[in-house]
Amino acid sequence: MVRVLAKTPVADGVVAVTLAAADGRRLPDWTPGAHVDLTFGNGLTRQYSLCGDRWDPRAYRLGVLLEPAGRGGSAYVHGELQPGHQVQLGGPRNNFPLVPADSYLFVAGGIGITPLLPMIAQADLLGADWRLLYGGRHRGSMAFLDELAAHGDRVLVRPQDEVGLLDLAGFLGAPRPGVRVYGCGPAPLLAALEGACADWPARTLRTERFAGADVLAPVRTTPFVVELHRSGRTVTVDPGISVLEAVAAAGVDVLSSCRQGTCGTCETVVLAGTPDHRDALLDDEDRAAGDCMYPCVSRARSDRLVLDL
Ligand code: FES
Repeated sequence: MVRVLAKTPVADGVVAVTLAAADGRRLPDWTPGAHVDLTFGNGLTRQYSLCGDRWDPRAYRLGVLLEPAGRGGSAYVHGELQPGHQVQLGGPRNNFPLVPADSYLFVAGGIGITPLLPMIAQADLLGADWRLLYGGRHRGSMAFLDELAAHGDRVLVRPQDEVGLLDLAGFLGAPRPGVRVYGCGPAPLLAALEGACADWPARTLRTERFAGADVLAPVRTTPFVVELHRSGRTVTVDPGISVLEAVAAAGVDVLSSCRQGTCGTCETVVLAGTPDHRDALLDDEDRAAGDCMYPCVSRARSDRLVLDL
């Protein structure tokens, strides 16, 4: 359990929430790009990127955008959650790690700045060359500008009402090796970033999405069979139910959280068969390897899948 130490407005519609261990002990270590799962008193579980000082073992900081059309997590944090409340903690877990590179280009859209803040601190600490392109609807909606100001002209602040859409091509420059591009923000920005990085060396770009990516229809419209190798069971997955649900109905529980293919909690090893990947986590190489899947959203291309469950 963690306890809310503080909740502070940091931009229009954004609060920073500071958490400490409920028993006063140190919190689990984490690395830049990590997120935690919080389960609130009303039973909702949501994922939030850690955006504080990774070297402070006593406090986690999150940034939470109020999303009126969301599924209720942000409304709860903004409206109900108060200092002193206790919240169940899962993780930290990192699906968006900062890999070694000579040079980093960070692209943030709105609240997508949160996982990038600790990456920037790390890149700075390591003396790496880095720059940040940070867009938002308007300046007042962009959180943590005060902290970023200390980095001078490494940070390009580009509110949409002042300058329009982000000039990704101009920021990235010509494709070159040795650079890692990290992007976090709304789906249209990430799609534009993927297009802008199409001619860059493989694995240059890493992105993190906050909501499930728009995915195509499943490859199959017919049932398929899933064999659960360790428990010795076999289940049929009909169209309209997820592999996770089918497996749970057979009495095998897989830990899950977001159920949108974004948090990584339900990662499952694939022993045979070909998954139809529908998550927002794996990159093209991981997908081609086909040895793990997220059964909350991913399905099968083949008639049969064998999972290590
Ligand atoms: S439960 Fe989050 S990826 Fe499956």
